[in-house]
Amino acid sequence: MAPAPIDASLRKSSLAFAAALVLCCAHLAHAAETAEPAAAPTKSLPEQIVDTLDVLSSGPHAGYRANHAKGVVVTGHFVPSRSARSLTVAPQFQSQKVPVIVRFSDTTGVPNIPDANSNASPHGIAIRFELPKGVNTDIVSLSTNGFPAATPEEFAALLSAIAATHADTPKPTPIEQFLGAHPKALAFVKMPKPAPVSFANLTFYGLNAFKFTNQAGTTRYGRYRIIPLAGDKRLSEEQAKGMPPNYLMDELPARLAKGPVKFRLAVQLAEPGDPLNDGTEVWPDERKQIELGTLVLEKAVPDSAAQEKQLAFNPLLLTDGIAPSDDPVLQFRPIVYAVSYGRRVGK
Ligand code: HEM
Repeated sequence: MAPAPIDASLRKSSLAFAAALVLCCAHLAHAAETAEPAAAPTKSLPEQIVDTLDVLSSGPHAGYRANHAKGVVVTGHFVPSRSARSLTVAPQFQSQKVPVIVRFSDTTGVPNIPDANSNASPHGIAIRFELPKGVNTDIVSLSTNGFPAATPEEFAALLSAIAATHADTPKPTPIEQFLGAHPKALAFVKMPKPAPVSFANLTFYGLNAFKFTNQAGTTRYGRYRIIPLAGDKRLSEEQAKGMPPNYLMDELPARLAKGPVKFRLAVQLAEPGDPLNDGTEVWPDERKQIELGTLVLEKAVPDSAAQEKQLAFNPLLLTDGIAPSDDPVLQFRPIVYAVSYGRRVGK
């Protein structure tokens, strides 16, 4: 199916859609308690979420991700730092250079969203480390330091409130009610998210914590940070308005043709008492960071559209030395991503 016209796809804009775009999700289960034994089976929460993402993007858009539909794929390699070994035995962080494939993206399921549109932020980065013997491991992060919901159910409620809010909905609207009762989500919606100059000028945050184990068996919890060597640089609102719709997707390959684009990969370490299972809780910025190494992006792939269709990133595709925290959002992501993947490849 061809992408919907942009004005139709974005007609839900405004606070509501913006909130949602955050990235995803779900519907409250008005799927229903009914006494009728013959009622249609209730869809699972991940299925409901993908359905709601489709509604919010005037989709489904066949062949595209239900969220982060618009993206660009590039390749390069990762060079580990010595300090990485003090944190973890994970093979991608030892002494060898590792090839990577990376996809940058705009939020929403709208395949032709203008890159500078406020709903395109937070932007995404998905990094796949391609280790020997066909072993892969992924990092999947966003360009906001914070997430609007602590659980999949809360995120579902947020998106449900967005979907139920229309221009003529009486006040207080469902989204106003939701944000009034969820200060962290309100703070997220209000957080400035200026459009970047380039994907090479964005900082990305892992948000969900992981447990890292080193050779001595010492464990530390931490969150990834991906920091652009070219600096975090943003456009003014006025500049953003004048940008071509694909300026981010087009600029990265042009920049790579002139030379590599580099990011530092670091882990922000938790201190005792820092919440380990809640992406709405931002840890203080002065927490110690361990350098894991440098991400060196070298080439745009010539067939980005074909590549991104078959790529399926998974934040729980992990190697020894890194384990998930019990953050319920982290645990949920692979399931909802698999639903989106299954639908976009027609499984
Ligand atoms: C309940 C929470 C979440 C839901 C329901 C959700 C849902 C989705 C869905 C359906 C996709 C499309 C997957 C595909 O078709 O391959 C997606 C992609 C993505 N999500 Fe999430 N997500 C959630 C949380 C997060 C968090 C916490 C982050 C970052 C820390 C994140 C970052 C991304 C990125 C970067 C992509 C694009 C990956 C790519 O380039 O293929 N998401 N998400």
